[in-house]
Amino acid sequence: PKPNGDPTAMLMKSYACQRRTPLKHHNSFLTEALEILSQNAEYNDNEGRSVAFRRAASVLKALPRRVRSMQDLRCLPCLGDHSQRVIKEILEDGSSREVESTRQSEQYQAMKALTGIFGVGVRTADRWFREGLRSPDDLIRRGQQLNREQQAGVQYYDDLQKPVTKVEADVISDIVEKAVHAVLPGAEIQLMGGFRRGKEVGHDVDFLITHPEEGKEEGLMPKITNWLKEQGLLLYQKTTRNSYLEKMDGPARASSNMDRFERCFSIFKLQKSAVSCKSSSTASAEDVSTARESERPGEHHSEASGWRAVRVDLVVSPYSQFAFATLGWTGSKLFERELRRWAGQEKHMSLSSHALYDSKQNLYLRAKKEEEIFAYLGLEFIPPSERNA
Ligand code: GTP
Ligand code: MN
Ligand code: MN
Repeated sequence: PKPNGDPTAMLMKSYACQRRTPLKHHNSFLTEALEILSQNAEYNDNEGRSVAFRRAASVLKALPRRVRSMQDLRCLPCLGDHSQRVIKEILEDGSSREVESTRQSEQYQAMKALTGIFGVGVRTADRWFREGLRSPDDLIRRGQQLNREQQAGVQYYDDLQKPVTKVEADVISDIVEKAVHAVLPGAEIQLMGGFRRGKEVGHDVDFLITHPEEGKEEGLMPKITNWLKEQGLLLYQKTTRNSYLEKMDGPARASSNMDRFERCFSIFKLQKSAVSCKSSSTASAEDVSTARESERPGEHHSEASGWRAVRVDLVVSPYSQFAFATLGWTGSKLFERELRRWAGQEKHMSLSSHALYDSKQNLYLRAKKEEEIFAYLGLEFIPPSERNA
């Protein structure tokens, strides 16, 4: 094996922010397995291990073709012994025993169900698991004390488990735009997160809002949420500053990209008629016969109703920080993490969703566009659709 003489060998850079990672790739049979081990490590408060598996998976996502043998992995970065063992077993036997037993384990399944509740992080889920709780139903049955956020999470659990489609995201974009322009004409709204990266479904819809006149954006969030409330479009909302710490009550906390933007975690009430209007395909008529007969108290089942609950994140940024906020809220989470690691370890800079600080020159670097931030960092510009690390 001589990588330079082999025309099929490619040079794989070791930071995810140095690579292009498309949404659709050739190795999901391996990456899904590695991501289960990553998720499980996160549930067990082992951040180092969790990131190692996630980095390994991400390298495979960037490969131009399907991995067929261990030979195909030579010269690739970020593949530790453990990841290689797992990959080898899957290539040889079709599956990995460790992955399958993790997938089947009571702890993994319970942690997945419990952290799947809006407002429940790894710490809370772990405490509940040790108290014998396994599912949202258990919380209801045992009358577990819940905060307001978690109550909403349990109440709309079924809806919030269902992926949000791009069409639903577009309908919500129109609503948010209407709300924002009603309270602050001239404001700009941008779809962020997975949908900006080209995903067809997501677990929520993320928006970044700003105004070209610096200062105009101050106090904007309560005006937006009040407008939405008056229209009966909000099932839940909580506006906070610097809320990343609370949500990330798991191992990612220490290195998380906390920010101090005004931010709203919300649950929208989305009318299904609005969605079937928007979708060009013949709207699948809701089959009323599939509606559940009985609703348990404290739960909403949307099959029977004309609307569904959708998680929406709103963030307001001053115009001068908009480029940094845009970069920070586009994701993926691993891509963001790798950008910050690259900035710190390779460039002696510190990147957040607000700013880029150069420790050598002792100054903040200004940017109007994402492209400028990549340039400061000495990185090739990676478009959002190729940040699916
Ligand atoms: P799905 O929603 O699951 O489809 O994927 P997603 O990539 O949109 O994930 P998510 O909505 O959780 O986050 C979107 C982006 O916002 C990611 O890059 C996160 O790292 C980032 N993000 C989420 N919360 C915060 C926060 O409080 N502060 C900052 N700076 N970034 C955040
Ligand atoms: Mn999202
Ligand atoms: Mn989000």
